[in-house]
Amino acid sequence: MGWFQRARESLFSVTGISTVCLFAASWFLATDLIRDYLAAKRASARRALEDQMRVQPRVWSAHELAPFDGSDPSKPILIGVDGEVFNVWRGRDFYGSNGPYGMFAGKDATRYFAKQVVTLEEDDGKDLTEEEKDNMKSWKEFLRYKYDFAGTLA
Ligand code: HEM
Repeated sequence: MGWFQRARESLFSVTGISTVCLFAASWFLATDLIRDYLAAKRASARRALEDQMRVQPRVWSAHELAPFDGSDPSKPILIGVDGEVFNVWRGRDFYGSNGPYGMFAGKDATRYFAKQVVTLEEDDGKDLTEEEKDNMKSWKEFLRYKYDFAGTLA
């Protein structure tokens, strides 16, 4: 093999490897850029949703909570417990209209939590016992810990 052919083959091989490397580098760069772009888009959609769901804490009447019963996915979900109101929209799978605890949303749910019931028919209508008050206070602590404070109940 003459010097010219050897030089040509070695140049081709170097160029060949470089082409593969260049292609791989471009591929990784492109997929990285696309991944970053999609992540930024998801983060911005999440921020927009958080802004939309934000509730300025205030004093609510039980009646005013009604529109926030989880039936409209574009609105926050509010639950009143023992004088406080929590914005539980992050738990919409629980409290949305198809959620297992949707009945607590948009109202003062103190008695549900105290009596550990999911329908008013199960409520015996009697005053809360000390044990039931403790139940309710534990649920209130839970909501306070997990969700956003949205004010107090008048
Ligand atoms: C047979 C009865 C019940 C079963 C099997 C049950 C099951 C569950 C399960 C699996 C969870 C999810 C826990 C998690 O986050 O991993 C949950 C959460 C919850 N349950 Fe029940 N539950 C029952 C009865 C009740 C009752 C009577 C109440 C009424 C106060 C209640 C209120 C709640 C609440 C408030 C949550 C928390 C939702 C959240 O994270 O915001 N549950 N339950």
